[in-house]
Amino acid sequence: MREILVTSALPYANGDIHLGHLVEYIQTDIWARAMKAQGHQVTYVCADDAHGTAIMLKAEDNGVTPEEQIANVKASHEADFAKFLINFDNYYTTHSEENKHFSELIYRRLNSAGHISTKDVEQLFDPEKQLFLADRFVKGTCPECAAADQYGDNCEVCGTTYDATELKDPRSTLSDATPVLKTSKHYFFDLPEFSQFLQDWTRTDNRLQPSIINKLQEWFDAGLTSWDISRDAPYFGFQIPDTPSDEPDKYFYVWLDAPVGYMASFKNLCEKRVGSDNALDFDRYWLPENENKTEVYHFIGKDIVYFHALFWPAMLAGSEFRTPTGVFAHGFLMVNGEKMSKSRGTFIKAETYAEHLHPEYLRYYFASKLSDKVEDINLDLEDFMQKVNSDMVGKVVNIASRSAGFLVKKYDGMLTEICAEPRLLEDITKTGDEIAAAYENREFSRAMRLIMQCADKANEYIDEKKPWALAKVEGSEQEVQDVCSVAINIFRQLMVYLAPVLPELTNNAKEFLNIDNLSFASRNEWLLGHQINKFKPLMQRIEEKDVAAMVEASKASLGATATSDTRSATTSMPAAKNTQSTKAKSTADSAKLTDYIGIDDFSKVEMKVAHVLECNYVEGADKLLQFTLDVGEDKPRNVFSGIRKFYEPEQLVNKKVICVTNLAPRTMKFGISEGMVLSAGDPKTALVVITLPDEAIVGDVLA
Ligand code: MSP
Ligand code: ZN
Repeated sequence: MREILVTSALPYANGDIHLGHLVEYIQTDIWARAMKAQGHQVTYVCADDAHGTAIMLKAEDNGVTPEEQIANVKASHEADFAKFLINFDNYYTTHSEENKHFSELIYRRLNSAGHISTKDVEQLFDPEKQLFLADRFVKGTCPECAAADQYGDNCEVCGTTYDATELKDPRSTLSDATPVLKTSKHYFFDLPEFSQFLQDWTRTDNRLQPSIINKLQEWFDAGLTSWDISRDAPYFGFQIPDTPSDEPDKYFYVWLDAPVGYMASFKNLCEKRVGSDNALDFDRYWLPENENKTEVYHFIGKDIVYFHALFWPAMLAGSEFRTPTGVFAHGFLMVNGEKMSKSRGTFIKAETYAEHLHPEYLRYYFASKLSDKVEDINLDLEDFMQKVNSDMVGKVVNIASRSAGFLVKKYDGMLTEICAEPRLLEDITKTGDEIAAAYENREFSRAMRLIMQCADKANEYIDEKKPWALAKVEGSEQEVQDVCSVAINIFRQLMVYLAPVLPELTNNAKEFLNIDNLSFASRNEWLLGHQINKFKPLMQRIEEKDVAAMVEASKASLGATATSDTRSATTSMPAAKNTQSTKAKSTADSAKLTDYIGIDDFSKVEMKVAHVLECNYVEGADKLLQFTLDVGEDKPRNVFSGIRKFYEPEQLVNKKVICVTNLAPRTMKFGISEGMVLSAGDPKTALVVITLPDEAIVGDVLA
């Protein structure tokens, strides 16, 4: 049995949980449940990240104290997480005694080892608010292109990055006052001293994903610089201890005590469990001498890699604590292929989602999309509906619903004594090993594919045996019971495999199956001579109207509440330049640079010159046109494209267009789409199909 501590990043206590956050909490929760199912002792802790200027100002806006603000948000975060079945062992706050203790301890150890120094920093100061201004609280005219109303770190018009002090006509977004330059003493953590340690640490023991290691290499190449860990009053946070008494108070920058919150939440859990059967020993998880007895993993978004893969391990190594076993980064959530957007109603809060749709739909959909890669994941609402309906309702639940009826009606719910199809069941038991490995390696999409293949086998078996036809043939009673019993046993195996993703559905299935164990080890325990209960629908189909209502409600609810998500779905890991800066810069909030792809990524997409042989309306689809495309293959391809609003079909016949030819075929209501026709523009208001000159040769690859 392995002893594993796992965490998700701590959400800021100034805004609601949205579907983007949930990518992470659902991913971590599935992993924790899957590892528990393997018999390991897994502890999953998290907390609210409660400190910082943003939270202080938010409290002021809401007319409450910061303590009240963070208590209210914590309650609402916990309620949201509970709805999505996120099973934390402890959910705490960084504004706690334990966190103060460890933050001070770590700081003091770093200080006495000589890793802390001070330096004067000149920064913009709001004379009315009496506050130093982080970049996002300053706006002015871009020094490069003269665009008005640009933030203090980079220009959204020309893309230049600069220092807030370089802005022309700067003003404070908090008071509209003109900021003044003011100098104050700041405390710095000497990251460069850890450069060699970090280069070794990041490259060994598979701690990080390959793409993260590459990104870190850029940062190492650029050279690490010291990290500004202090902020001046007024600030909501912990005061830095041992500073000279004749100098103004200094506070830890929120990112100093935030990761310490992982430790503090775990410590709090240890205290709660003292004397209980599942007591936990803090030292066993956090002292270097115990490092090979336990494992510590952090799940995070790609925007906070710098903090978790550089600052955090350096802080730990410099203060006599153990470092994490692994840091796993995920990409950002896109909705309908774009950044979450308030105006389009795709910036969806967890709460709004849960008012309209069952959380397990989203858990399954995210599972079917997540891998061990740092790729953005797309919630395509149409695909979401189709996939959940076809996989969960159409395939998995269907196995039980189509076989339970016969058993309950004709055989009093009794399964046969002897398994009629042991090979099939053994085959599915064997696949279980691959599924378990896929879960462990965070290849959830692979796990879901394997599970659906098992479901397909069960459905094919039932289709072939046709119990509904057999039931009408005299003398076939035994066979009907045999077939349905095999189906129910496979269904039970699928419930075992899906339990980490769908805890509620699988729990309800236990009632129907009349069993109380769905542990992974029980996957080959066959139900023979066992009585099941009447089947109750375990999952309803997703209705289009509910999705539409959720989108509408997301549009409506936004005016009232500002959201905390200062990032966008395309937010990347911050580039070296931004993060290396030693001046008081809120790196977390200013990370907006492009994530480049390599030529290898680009060449994954196969695009070919296509000749439009036919183009037609699609009955019943007011957005689509149907293309018959010659792409230089034996047979023409059938492709649907959502451009009906902008073209009459005859305008496109005989044109040369670009077809993406290696997209997985997509089954739609109207047929299978075997590619994608490229067009440019906004699908809502104006789209142009990209056409090629006549001399382009059909079937040629674009590169
Ligand atoms: N408070 C910091 C983390 C401190 S950890 C010691 C923070 N908070 S956050 O609320 O902004 O984000 C919490 C987690 O959710 C982060 O890992 C972040 O990457 C993730 N996500 C926030 N928005 C997201 C998307 N739109 N998509 C996917 N993940 C997103 O960062
Ligand atoms: Zn500019």
